[in-house]
Amino acid sequence: MANRSHRNAGHRAMNALRKAGGKHSSESSLSISPAQSTRHVFDVADCLDTLAMLPDGSVQLIICDPPYNIMLADWDDRVDYLSWASQWLAEAERVLAPTGSIAIFGGLQYQGEAGSGDLLSIISHMRGNSKMLLANLIIWNYPNGMSAQRFFASRHEEIAWFARTKKYFFDLDAVREPYDEETKAAYMKDKRLNPESVEKGRNPTNVWRMSRLNGNSRERVGHPTQKPAAVIERLVRALSYPGSTVLDFFAGSGVTARVAIQEGRNSICTDADPVFRDYIAKQVEFLEADGLVNSARQYELVEGLKNLDARHNRANAVPSAAAE
Ligand SMILES: C[S@@+](CC[C@H](N)C(=O)[O-])C[C@H]1O[C@@H](n2cnc3c(N)ncnc32)[C@H](O)[C@@H]1O
Repeated sequence: MANRSHRNAGHRAMNALRKAGGKHSSESSLSISPAQSTRHVFDVADCLDTLAMLPDGSVQLIICDPPYNIMLADWDDRVDYLSWASQWLAEAERVLAPTGSIAIFGGLQYQGEAGSGDLLSIISHMRGNSKMLLANLIIWNYPNGMSAQRFFASRHEEIAWFARTKKYFFDLDAVREPYDEETKAAYMKDKRLNPESVEKGRNPTNVWRMSRLNGNSRERVGHPTQKPAAVIERLVRALSYPGSTVLDFFAGSGVTARVAIQEGRNSICTDADPVFRDYIAKQVEFLEADGLVNSARQYELVEGLKNLDARHNRANAVPSAAAE
């Protein structure tokens, strides 16, 4: 059966608009200019305390990799998971700008374990309790993982991308995958394809094949569930724009702060565990050692939520994007 999304009128209109060189209204309403300097605030704080500090509509992207009560660590042990999660989900919706998005990491394989939550329970809760739109369920397929004897060894995790409104920001060009020369030459001859899009590369699709971090990966700072920078980078590049604010209130290893610095976004990263301070320090050490920060780009990294400034409130800077 043909993919139903190909017959979707909005989808077809968007493809026609692109072919004619046009842009979606969510892109044209934003005044995007490269940030001169960015500010990165980190703190040791409970997720709900962090969210309570933030104004409505001030954040462009939330990277959210919550604990799911699967006893991975001491923090992974909640009695009524969904009633707790529903509080930070509602607050996340409040702080997102109309162009904003939240990317929630998780898996579906944990159902049935004592006291557990999982991404399925979160998505189902959102259906009934949130106005946000499920833009994509991304399958993150990793080639490396544990072996298994009593079931098929797990090689994927999901990322549920919810957009705050249908005016959400999405920069596909920032994350296209270049074609190899042979494929590009063949596609350029195909009259049905737009040469400009072929030049830019392919849509990376909603299945991302990217490795997990191995135990001895150079990126590791010591956090037990650290996500690879490449995965966070793709989300940050596609769903936020330079100078906007990225928030991570379960920041773990601090990888979101690292990527935000690299990509010229402002960030707010907090975690309840005091060891977070050490992880952030290591992230910055790695960034500087690897020369990953453009020398022309200035950034400030400051501890304490009291240090949030106007750069963290993009809702003030782009009022036209708020109009639906
Ligand atoms: C799955 S990990 C996040 C890993 C992170 N995405 C990374 O790549 O490094 C979840 C994090 O949530 C933190 N956490 C647990 N309960 C919390 C709470 N109530 N408020 C803030 N952080 C919390 C834990 O300390 C842990 O670091």
